Amino acid sequence: MADLSLELCGVKLKNPIIAASGTFGFGREYDELYDIGQLGGISVKGLSLKPRTGNPPSRIAETPSGMLNSVGLQNPGVDSFVENDLPWLLGKNVAVIANITGTSIDEYVQMAERLAPTGVHMLEMNISCPNVHEGGVAFGVKPESVYQITKAVKAAARQPLIVKLTPNVSDITENALAAQEAGADAISMINTLTGIAVDVRRRKMILANNTGGLSGPAVRPVALRMVWQSAQKVHIPIIGMGGIETGEDAAAFMLCGAKAVMVGTANFTDPFACPRIIRELDAYCDRQNVRSAQELVGTLEENG
Ligand code: SIN
Repeated sequence: MADLSLELCGVKLKNPIIAASGTFGFGREYDELYDIGQLGGISVKGLSLKPRTGNPPSRIAETPSGMLNSVGLQNPGVDSFVENDLPWLLGKNVAVIANITGTSIDEYVQMAERLAPTGVHMLEMNISCPNVHEGGVAFGVKPESVYQITKAVKAAARQPLIVKLTPNVSDITENALAAQEAGADAISMINTLTGIAVDVRRRKMILANNTGGLSGPAVRPVALRMVWQSAQKVHIPIIGMGGIETGEDAAAFMLCGAKAVMVGTANFTDPFACPRIIRELDAYCDRQNVRSAQELVGTLEENG
């Protein structure tokens, strides 16, 4: 058995497999199926200052090798999370990452302040949601605004700050660098790629919001490329995600430079995906004669 453990921004993780925000709720439903304490971490559904009902239906569409979502950051609000879900989650012996959203820089700062005295282990600042009309990806497209919001939230945060980047830009490495320069402790990538789904019979858009975010295996090659490119530019840890379905997919992200990975859409097709991927990564390390999974990070051999 390989050593899968790691330290991420000063937080000890049992393994590099983290459940991705928006695909795992606050962990309760999955904990009915298996002990979620097996996971490296859980990034909870994006939280806002006030409860949000999200976008109207239809807000999910199946696509070749993936799915589109336009959930619109539905969540019960940060106070409900802190009172009702966090105490239970903290008893699970798993790193808890609070994914935070807002419609203004001030709201993101207030979220960091609200979570500062809690037992949350890390913050993941979502500046990459393509499904809301205010905030979300608006802060994550230009390097200047990535810098500005990261600087402000980092000053208010008491936990390590992960900045979640959008792939809907021409050069994601500029935003990775901007986050690092502003003091981010880590970056996570990629959030979803904006797409649409067309009902040709009714000649209508399928999603009520028109556009949605594409995730699943269809985006994996793009995500791998972006992680690999960013790893050449930044020295802070990268958490890779985008269509991971197997232990070898997780290893591919680590070879490209990711220290840890997030598993999202796979949870919908296989609710046991995360613990299975942990076992498969372990078996891959054994086959590769790797004693610690961290030895894989950034060791991809390039051609010419
Ligand atoms: C959503 O709730 O719309 C998805 C979150 C995201 O894409 O960041």
